[in-house]
Amino acid sequence: MASVRELLDGAIERLRANGSDSPRLDAELLLGRAVGVDRTVLIAHPTAPVGTDAEAAFLADVERRAAGEPVAYIRGFKEFHGLAFAVDGRALIPRPETEQLVEMAEREVMRRLTGSPRPPGTPPIRVADVGTGCGSIAVALGVLLRRRSVGRDVEILATDDSAAALELARENAVGHGVADRVRFIEADLLPPVVAQPFDVIVANLPYIPSEVVDRLPVAASFEPRSALDGGPDGLSAIGRLLQRLTDALAQTGVALLEIGADQADSLGELVGEHLPGWSCRVERDLAGLPRTARIERSPAVGRT
Ligand SMILES: C[S@@+](CC[C@H](N)C(=O)[O-])C[C@H]1O[C@@H](n2cnc3c(N)ncnc32)[C@H](O)[C@@H]1O
Repeated sequence: MASVRELLDGAIERLRANGSDSPRLDAELLLGRAVGVDRTVLIAHPTAPVGTDAEAAFLADVERRAAGEPVAYIRGFKEFHGLAFAVDGRALIPRPETEQLVEMAEREVMRRLTGSPRPPGTPPIRVADVGTGCGSIAVALGVLLRRRSVGRDVEILATDDSAAALELARENAVGHGVADRVRFIEADLLPPVVAQPFDVIVANLPYIPSEVVDRLPVAASFEPRSALDGGPDGLSAIGRLLQRLTDALAQTGVALLEIGADQADSLGELVGEHLPGWSCRVERDLAGLPRTARIERSPAVGRT
């Protein structure tokens, strides 16, 4: 029987030759999956023998990865905001940079819940996650608010125009025990009529320009193109969402949008065009990149 180290060494070489930029991590995660242990156990026991069934499963997974398939799809899950989300070709794999949107949305919700008294009968805070994909933002937010015991004071609506993505998102909501707190609907951005505007709209819509999508590493070709392709300038879906904000966002509401690191200026121009007088502030992520836009009515707009 081959040892952990022998199998890892062979796989690392194979994956490096096939262009993986994280061959060791990929190999450890895949061997951990085949053996049924965390990768740290493998690292601690490099000479342990690996059974033949596990070896065969591992080698098959290494071939999938060598063909470009993302490790998250092979394993069937991805960690996001400390939670394991089921992922497959129905939706984009959630990215770590999007965790910032969850935290910002949580802060906005908590500020509204704690900022002024809420006598019985006060309507819940309304949140929309537009383009929910596998449900990562809506479900992570639902879990955070449940931990704070305020889940019942908040309504979360998650939308997507992909029925397949919504199916996966519902599975994740069930898996994390928030299926009763997040409502999922198929919609082009938002329901056509928003009777009660949202206090917080959070969205990680596709924002990669079409011609850049064509040049992405092969791993991206396993993800739905509709989750990545933001049209000629990358801002097609975001621009259309901006046009919905006047009717969909409450007077004191805020929209939190993830954008590409080079799109802050273009987004500012779009906001000026579609939402004159509104404020658009782009915040930097942990890597110092301007990735999250905060859009709201300026205090003087709409309150006279
Ligand atoms: C970049 S992915 C983000 C998924 C998820 N929110 C996340 O952060 O991992 C964008 C998502 O928006 C959805 N989408 C694209 N255009 C849309 C539209 N016009 N209306 C609703 N959803 C849309 C895609 O199907 C995809 O699930």
